[in-house]
Amino acid sequence: MDNVENVVSRNVQSIEISGIRKFFNKVAKYPDAISLTLGQPDFNVPVKIKEAMINAIEDNKTTYTSNAGIVELRKEISSYLKTQHINYHQDEICLTIGGSEGLMDVFTALLNPNDKVLIPTPAYPAYESCVKLLGGQILNYNLNKDFSIDFEQLETLIKTENPKVMVVSYPSNPTGAIISKEDNDKLYKILKNNEIIIISDEMYSALCFDDNYYSIAQFDDIRNRIIVVGGFSKMFSMTGLRLGYVCADYKLMEAIMKVHQYNVSCAPSIVQWGAYEGLKSCMEDVDYMKSQFIRRRDYLYERLISMGFETNLPMGAFYIFPSIKKFNMESEEFCERLLKEAGVAAVPGSAFGIGGEGYMRISYAYSMEQLKEAADRMESWIKKVGV
Ligand SMILES: Cc1ncc(COP(=O)(O)O)c(C=O)c1O
Repeated sequence: MDNVENVVSRNVQSIEISGIRKFFNKVAKYPDAISLTLGQPDFNVPVKIKEAMINAIEDNKTTYTSNAGIVELRKEISSYLKTQHINYHQDEICLTIGGSEGLMDVFTALLNPNDKVLIPTPAYPAYESCVKLLGGQILNYNLNKDFSIDFEQLETLIKTENPKVMVVSYPSNPTGAIISKEDNDKLYKILKNNEIIIISDEMYSALCFDDNYYSIAQFDDIRNRIIVVGGFSKMFSMTGLRLGYVCADYKLMEAIMKVHQYNVSCAPSIVQWGAYEGLKSCMEDVDYMKSQFIRRRDYLYERLISMGFETNLPMGAFYIFPSIKKFNMESEEFCERLLKEAGVAAVPGSAFGIGGEGYMRISYAYSMEQLKEAADRMESWIKKVGV
């Protein structure tokens, strides 16, 4: 076909494939490079989850489940969320094919063309792409130097632009930031007085390194406007098994379920039984993985600081987001050179939106040996490049 542009929808033409994937594909051309690009834990799936999935196959639990997913798992998710002071009944929870499907279902259920959506920058790239695909309008809100919300700008945007939806995402990909109690309270006060629907992406909630977990979804009096997207990819190191969930008040859930039903009918039955076992008996595995991520974070943070990078100490997820501004290169150029000249791959901050320019994202979901080798290579390269 000659004129693909005439055929492909304008909304699809308006988006690009993810900058993370694009860079990952470049890395494939450098077989000796150490890649710290992917948001994928390097642990095996906990044994009990594997066993539960094998049993599910042998017991022929391979048919469609209800659209929302098996009630046993939805009950467990409801109890798990209670430990984080978030209250959703099992019937307000829908299992999805990863958080990815959950996000797309939620945006599809909410947006009419030109509806305005507040999205932080930098942020996980799917938010902007989903909104563009649906013909919505993106309103970026800025983050401060420590990646907390710039509330002054947020309030101005809310007053002048009248947004319909706001995306909040903690612990954050790509910054590793979590929300403090003070900021969570501040956000609540603003949102209480404005009829905005909030999508809280809590994909990394199991990987919060602080003793206390804060989320906007903890405020029950505005819960009819809050939608939580979560999942098991990162929590149980099972990215390829594709299981996530959406939580929303009954009325919103009805709308979300319509989209989910016509998209996929239900999430994979076998994996649902695996995650059910996981929530019941693999929390120690999660604690172990978390402790390893903290060790790796501490190591990488120290190394980056001693190389002269300015960086925040991540408090969740498994990413660190150092500034590269003093090198006077765009993040794409910096990461290309780091890859070609030092043999280390990190994702250019620009892949996470306008606010990501001037940074790179390093994933520390890699072994200590790989992190050490990558840090050594970076250190020698930086000495050569100078600042
Ligand atoms: C912030 C965030 N939300 C959602 C997702 C989607 O995860 P999945 O579809 O694997 O559940 C990811 C994956 O990297 C993410 O980083």
